[in-house]
Amino acid sequence: MINLNYHRNQVNKLKLSQVGISLKKSVALQLYFMEAGIGVMKENVTPYKDSDLTKKKQVEQMFDTISGNYDGLNRVISLGADVKWRKKVVKMIADSNPSSILDIATGTGDLAIKFTEKSTADKVVGLDISEGMLSVARKKTENSDLADRVSFIKGDSEALPFSDNSFDAITVSFGIRNFENLEKGLSEIYRVLSPKGLFVILETSVPKNFPWKQGYFVYTRGIMPVIGKIFSKDKVAYNYLSESASVFPHGEVLNNILKKIGFKEVKNMPQTFGVATIYSATK
Ligand SMILES: C[S@@+](CC[C@H](N)C(=O)[O-])C[C@H]1O[C@@H](n2cnc3c(N)ncnc32)[C@H](O)[C@@H]1O
Repeated sequence: MINLNYHRNQVNKLKLSQVGISLKKSVALQLYFMEAGIGVMKENVTPYKDSDLTKKKQVEQMFDTISGNYDGLNRVISLGADVKWRKKVVKMIADSNPSSILDIATGTGDLAIKFTEKSTADKVVGLDISEGMLSVARKKTENSDLADRVSFIKGDSEALPFSDNSFDAITVSFGIRNFENLEKGLSEIYRVLSPKGLFVILETSVPKNFPWKQGYFVYTRGIMPVIGKIFSKDKVAYNYLSESASVFPHGEVLNNILKKIGFKEVKNMPQTFGVATIYSATK
């Protein structure tokens, strides 16, 4: 089996030596840029290192496999903190009084269901590329009063099946770091959001200060993958989830990407020492 990472490193080493920068110096520079928060989007992290499939296909496959125990493991891994963060997102959206809400990368649908319960919106759509995750979501609403206001559909955030300006509010929780092409996904969101509509992202981020930053790396790199390995059906999924979280642009870097797409009133609100961040923006 070809080890793509090994070959990629060799190519990078070659390129750097050609411009006279040692690997050690380049790592130090990268760390500097990470610390300074001036990072550009890092190389795409994918779930299965030796797979030839696109990131999108790998992500779909991975979430199909882990869909059955996603909810339980999610709660354990976030030590229950995600419940509080999600409540804030639900309140922000409900307070904006939307009549239509789109929850992208809805997964097992918890956020979309909460929007249906807590807001007055008459149309809530949860969209995801994983049929496995969607079937868990659909089971939660079948035979319930909410079923005629919420629907779950298969779709790709980078090619949304909706016309321009279709939704008053759009959310993505723990989804954008899985997009194959972040800017394409964000441009699609901008396109289908109504003028003055509200866009809210909930995503993992890396704490800035000691000792939370060090504790974060010990937890996400050491403990989280072990919990995943023991309890998940997919042994590498939780490696991917922690690795992708630690390299994904966050804070000011993500704010700037949102502004570049065209979003206005962009704000970021770090949660629980910065291990997650809520971003809000308007069109
Ligand atoms: C970590 S889960 C988050 C699920 C849910 N939003 C939550 O907060 O628990 C990420 C979800 O993003 C979905 N996803 C990844 N890439 C996507 C894409 N391009 N379009 C739509 N959904 C996508 C995955 O299938 C998965 O269900």
